[in-house]
Amino acid sequence: MSAITLDGRELGRTIEKDLMSRIDDLKAKGVSPHLAVVIVGDDPASHVYVRNKEIACNRCGIISTRIDLDSTVSEQDILKVVERLNSDESVHGILVQSPLPPSIDESLIIDTISPLKDVDGFHKMNLGNLVQGDRSGLLPCTPAGIMKMLELSDYETSGKNALVIGRSRIVGMPISILLAQKGIDSTVTVAHSRTKNLADICLQADLIIAAIGRAEFVKSEWVKPGAMVIDVGINRVPDPTRKSGFRLTGDVDPEAAKNAGWISPVPGGVGPMTIAMLMSNTVLATEFLSR
Ligand code: GUN
Repeated sequence: MSAITLDGRELGRTIEKDLMSRIDDLKAKGVSPHLAVVIVGDDPASHVYVRNKEIACNRCGIISTRIDLDSTVSEQDILKVVERLNSDESVHGILVQSPLPPSIDESLIIDTISPLKDVDGFHKMNLGNLVQGDRSGLLPCTPAGIMKMLELSDYETSGKNALVIGRSRIVGMPISILLAQKGIDSTVTVAHSRTKNLADICLQADLIIAAIGRAEFVKSEWVKPGAMVIDVGINRVPDPTRKSGFRLTGDVDPEAAKNAGWISPVPGGVGPMTIAMLMSNTVLATEFLSR
């Protein structure tokens, strides 16, 4: 058996196309959706992600402003930038690219972003709404993208054994909450670095969400035949045959495609879905702020 590949690029474009009429309606009212992205330092991967967000904004007709700050910037100065963007009425979405330098309190920065402009969905208020079962607001983009991927693939989540590997604030925790919610109704297990017998737990899972950031950690033989496998990892591994000297790979051994029923590739799987949901959150925030 060979898995069906979940094409995140194609699904992401479908989501972006569906946003077009809402963006046109806003523009007809004289409102142009505007996303501001703050990036601190020169982490190459973060710069690639931010560039991809700008390209998506251009594709969708969303204004994007990028604020580059030096890696030595103080917490106070980042807070000042966020406060200025909060009070700028022409800006509807604010995103501070993670990771920040270790000296910066990331949660302080995130909770300073106006919850109405928090297009990452990381503010305590937006996460609080999510925990209470309200999915109508600004949801974290990667978990929301995974849910869309499952929905657009007509995957029935109800009653399925879902295994989330990783408990991060950005992906693992919020996706585990979403999958367990009423109407989605999966039975969720969260595995992490202290989990024992992961291979056995994996073999019980109908749906695996791998979000640990370790290259090809989930082995092909851990995947139950026919399972849905969503690979969130984007890992750079050395590859002397490439001009760049590296290649991108996920958290799942690509050989798992032989066992799985469906698998999301890396690159071209969850990444474009995350970006499409960022565009969707920016439009939602603009609609809310311009009511
Ligand atoms: N770094 C990696 N993924 C993300 C994301 O979704 N949002 C932000 N702000 N930073 C990230």
